[in-house]
Amino acid sequence: MPTHPRIIDLTGDHPALLDQAAVLLHESFRGRTEEWQDLDCARREVQDSVAAERISRVAVDLNDNVLGWVGGIPAYRGRVWELHPLVVAASHRRRGIGRALVHDLERMVADRGGTTLWLGSDDENGETSLSGIDLYADVPGAIRQFRKLRGEHPCEFYLRLGFRITGVMPDANGPGKPDIFFAKRVERAWGP
Ligand SMILES: CC(C)(COP(=O)(O)OP(=O)(O)OC[C@H]1O[C@@H](n2cnc3c(N)ncnc32)[C@H](O)[C@@H]1OP(=O)(O)O)[C@@H](O)C(=O)NCCC(=O)NCCS
Repeated sequence: MPTHPRIIDLTGDHPALLDQAAVLLHESFRGRTEEWQDLDCARREVQDSVAAERISRVAVDLNDNVLGWVGGIPAYRGRVWELHPLVVAASHRRRGIGRALVHDLERMVADRGGTTLWLGSDDENGETSLSGIDLYADVPGAIRQFRKLRGEHPCEFYLRLGFRITGVMPDANGPGKPDIFFAKRVERAWGP
């Protein structure tokens, strides 16, 4: 059954929410990436997200349990926002919470005059066709032939939400382990 949690600002004066967001981040990426492998790192990421110029939003249930978290970081004088990070509790995935968080961020970015939402999604574990090859040989061709191979890489989620692959950073995480850049125009979804 679809869940429709409340989505609220994550702010520095809510230590319980901040801590839950850090635990969620740490647990969701454990063993999958180089980042946030200890809780202190995750806590720093959460603290950074509540800086004044950023957007930080959490999806909570009726008891204020954090079910998901999305952050936004401005660049290009506020026209382009990086979605960073995005995480939904494993027990609550595939119920529309990730989509709701991204749509919420899109609305907030559009309200601030932003036109573009982008993100980098690493492929450190050979989960997509962009891994394990020499991307310099033919970057556009590799992007055109993109497909998911295995595992939990969130590429299909982002493509489903209208993001497109706009680039790669070859070897970002070691040879054959790229970062994959996704972007989406936000203005059209929310009016002129
Ligand atoms: C990626 C993530 C945020 C998706 O959140 P979610 O709440 O499960 O996603 P939703 O239920 O809103 O899914 C939206 C759509 O994407 C699809 N989708 C979600 N995850 C998917 C996956 N792993 N593979 C294929 N499709 C997926 C859903 O089926 C749904 O499709 P629909 O349009 O047919 O309804 C969540 O899986 C997660 O937190 N993963 C671990 C952390 C992570 O990888 N974050 C991203 C870092 S870049």
